Amino acid sequence: MPNIETCLSPLLFSARQTKDNYVVVVIDVLRATTAFCAALDRGFGSIIPVTGIEEALNYKEKGYQVAAEREGDKLDFADFGNSPTSFLSTNNIGDELVFTTTNGTRAIDTGKVADELITASFSNLTAVCNWIFNSNRNVVILCAGWKNTFSLEDTLCAGAIAEKLIKGGHFLPVDDATLVSKALWGKSSENLRENVRQSSHYQRLRSKGLDNDLEYCFRIDTSESVPVLVDGKLVNDKA
Ligand code: MLT
Repeated sequence: MPNIETCLSPLLFSARQTKDNYVVVVIDVLRATTAFCAALDRGFGSIIPVTGIEEALNYKEKGYQVAAEREGDKLDFADFGNSPTSFLSTNNIGDELVFTTTNGTRAIDTGKVADELITASFSNLTAVCNWIFNSNRNVVILCAGWKNTFSLEDTLCAGAIAEKLIKGGHFLPVDDATLVSKALWGKSSENLRENVRQSSHYQRLRSKGLDNDLEYCFRIDTSESVPVLVDGKLVNDKA
């Protein structure tokens, strides 16, 4: 029976027990992993995640389209920030998009040692779980959090994935973080938006007037996209 394990912060990834035949599932609900789905849904052919601003700027100078965010704000040189709703009116069939964010792209960099890496959010919850059912691998959920600290919305999404996998696929939870995120999801799922309202990044984005993004990021199953890391690029592998 495949394992399911959860790292509630990128700092905990090196302490994981699962090291063989595993897929890392990176979660950054607000907003990177929701934005990846929105960009792929609107036709981008792939996303190149990078950790550094310099690297993103180099790509921009070479003519790539770039999405770049720090502390919730779009960087001046970039074409996009990290707003999933900003992608919904675009149409970029096949283009490559370079992406750098405060936490999400760093978490990808941390988790890329895995056999496979995918990204998840509430927007592609069912698609991700179906993809995992087909993969026959152990699962390590990696919550991006905020600057290496715990974040409520990523933990709840981890719990939602754990619940679906355990119910539907005979996955074995091997750590307390999986149990606690699943229990928290069980208590919060009916009133999700209300239950995340006090969380720190929700408040941060709210103070920037990003209510449209907040509304969009907590909608479940708006996307069938499953971003999978292949040769350093996230490509869409619909389940
Ligand atoms: C991140 O990757 O740090 C977040 O997506 C930040 C944001 O909401 O822009």
